[in-house]
Amino acid sequence: MLSIENKVVVITGGSSGIGRALAAAALEHGAKVAVCGRDLEKLQGNFTPTASLLCFKADVVNEADCKAFIAAVVQKWGGVDVLVNNAGISMRALFQDVDLAVIKELMDVNFWGTVYCTRYALPSVLERKGVVAGVSSVAGYRGLPGRTGYSASKFAMQGFLEALRTELLYSGAHVMWVSPGFTASNIRNVARSSDGSAQAETPLDEQKLMTAEECAHIILKGIEKRKRTIVMTRQGKLAVWMNKLFPGITDRLVYKHFLNEPDSPLKKYH
Ligand SMILES: NC(=O)c1ccc[n+]([C@@H]2O[C@H](COP(=O)([O-])OP(=O)(O)OC[C@H]3O[C@@H](n4cnc5c(N)ncnc54)[C@H](OP(=O)(O)O)[C@@H]3O)[C@@H](O)[C@H]2O)c1
Repeated sequence: MLSIENKVVVITGGSSGIGRALAAAALEHGAKVAVCGRDLEKLQGNFTPTASLLCFKADVVNEADCKAFIAAVVQKWGGVDVLVNNAGISMRALFQDVDLAVIKELMDVNFWGTVYCTRYALPSVLERKGVVAGVSSVAGYRGLPGRTGYSASKFAMQGFLEALRTELLYSGAHVMWVSPGFTASNIRNVARSSDGSAQAETPLDEQKLMTAEECAHIILKGIEKRKRTIVMTRQGKLAVWMNKLFPGITDRLVYKHFLNEPDSPLKKYH
């Protein structure tokens, strides 16, 4: 068990949704928290300034930004105990229609952002026997239609983290990932459509989803307990379990679920 009180917790993508809620919860629990995002003003606007908070402008697509972010944390607080690779974007478009640059962008943010930040934080995490975590998705276990690039990026993230966890098995450091179910956030508003523009409107009723605060609470507890993986919602757990045991049936169930979304791109084939 690792209490995050007085620990240095680094979270990528702290300006919105799950990352913002996670940073607020970690601060409440007495951690020193560093967050990054591409818009520093927006990032800073989310928090009351305190000596326990570092806001840093970094685009995780850019390796030099990730290196500078981690270096700034080490300079301020001497090291990193917990790295949460949270920054992420999504998409909604059929593979047949999508500009391939969208898939590249998703891999760059969701996968390469994780690789870069993990690489630069790892020496410190190893020294402190800390935790590297990834915010993945059910799409990291089960490919989702209209989300080819998103699913690929989360499968890649999970494969990377699983391999790393095994490498570090006897190092004292821990590697894990969490897979939220649908959580109220900005992710569906900025999800890329086929031409790379933000889809702007969420197809879900965000009010009915898990809140980012609930999700953040589960992530923090999971980090403290050094869980291997957490699949959060009942629907998510069922999808992962069904996919393992009955993959053919799950193809049809997942198809049906996404076909029934408002403005589903799958209607093109139906
Ligand atoms: N919400 C869900 O239903 C759900 C479900 C499963 C998994 N997830 C995962 O949860 C994570 C957080 O998503 P969210 O739902 O909280 O979405 P969100 O509200 O859109 O927040 C995404 C965060 O990532 C940051 N970000 C995006 N691209 C970035 C980049 N290139 N460099 C640095 N920061 C970047 C954004 O900041 P800026 O735009 O200001 O840079 C923002 O702070 C993602 O990895 C997502 O895949 C979400």
